[in-house]
Amino acid sequence: MALLEGRDLTSIFDFSDREIEAVFDLADEMSKHTRGRLGLADGKIMSTLFYEPSTRTRLSFESAMLRLGGEVISVADTTVTSVKKGETIADTVRIIESYADIIVIRNPLEGSARVAADYASIPVINAGDGPHEHPTQTLLDLYTIRREKGKLRDVNVALVGDLRFGRTVHSLAFGLARFGAKVTCVAPRGLEMPAHLLARLDKEFGCRPAQYQSLAEIVTNAEVVKRRPGRQRALASEVLTLFDAVYVTRVQKERFESEEAYRAATGSYAITEEMIRRARPDALVMHPLPRVDELAYGIDRDPRAVYFRQAAYGVPVRMALASALLGLRAVRIGKARKGEYKPKPRREVDFRKFSNVRCSNGHCVTNHETYLAPQFNFVDYAPGAIACAYCEHEMPMPAGVPSE
Ligand code: CP
Repeated sequence: MALLEGRDLTSIFDFSDREIEAVFDLADEMSKHTRGRLGLADGKIMSTLFYEPSTRTRLSFESAMLRLGGEVISVADTTVTSVKKGETIADTVRIIESYADIIVIRNPLEGSARVAADYASIPVINAGDGPHEHPTQTLLDLYTIRREKGKLRDVNVALVGDLRFGRTVHSLAFGLARFGAKVTCVAPRGLEMPAHLLARLDKEFGCRPAQYQSLAEIVTNAEVVKRRPGRQRALASEVLTLFDAVYVTRVQKERFESEEAYRAATGSYAITEEMIRRARPDALVMHPLPRVDELAYGIDRDPRAVYFRQAAYGVPVRMALASALLGLRAVRIGKARKGEYKPKPRREVDFRKFSNVRCSNGHCVTNHETYLAPQFNFVDYAPGAIACAYCEHEMPMPAGVPSE
């Protein structure tokens, strides 16, 4: 038996593979208690601190805490808090830690959850930090695959949509790769998976996703043409015959600089009724939701369209996570597997003498919360590069900084 008590979850890299599976085992147990109220979290308080809109993440965390028997204090709109007066993340969480036992934070700045975790003395859970990560969404996405397919390892998954700004797919690509998945990326031009994430998937996990710009392009590739000799026509409607799961995301309108840029990127992919009619009997259509126009309403009742069940799994998964971090339940850690991922200590660059070097990502928390000292890590898979310790944005090693 081992505990996750007192830990933070700011990144999917904070938990080992076995710790993720242990949370899922606990979620299986919690699934029996998603109605009513367990007495497990009596006297415990969760604070949900949301600087951005949310339906599923905030309400499912709050439902999870209430189902565990705890209480919730919630900020759903920071414009009615002292954030409006300029209070920083560091000060806000140091206040909340006196009022609550665990913090769930969503903030548009990349790396913001790590700041909260660094300053708060109670567990902090990242509910989305800009386009960077959304690790609890990844937990429930992986849990959905495990529940619906009966296995988590070695699945074949297509990630479709806005892979540039979609934080759920950033965390999920690594979650899938860690469990041996074959990953395919389908993104309109300009919304591809960032190059530094692809490099890390390859170098650290041996995962090299095939890249496409449309669903039709996948179906016309050699794989299908080989199966259907002589058939060269684009048949996007056959895309659900190729994967165990197709994970679709909306274009993240809120991250675009202009309405024109957003409009240019939308409407180029959608899962249709025709696709689901031709789908494999065991295919899954997943989506973190909310949807815009990427999923036809006509497919909602098909059992392979699992996105509402996926959202529902958010409650037992978050019950399991909160009870483990609060130390209310021990989790059983399984036997080590060869090559499994375990969190590694950071190899930080000493930047104390180079205070003028800042992260080059304008959306990084260190460029907005200016009390933060920039911190960088060496990048194992890219010699000569450093990555911001908060947002993981990579940049060349500035001149004059000593190497390791
Ligand atoms: N999937 C997800 O994060 O949904 P919300 O934005 O509604 O929380």
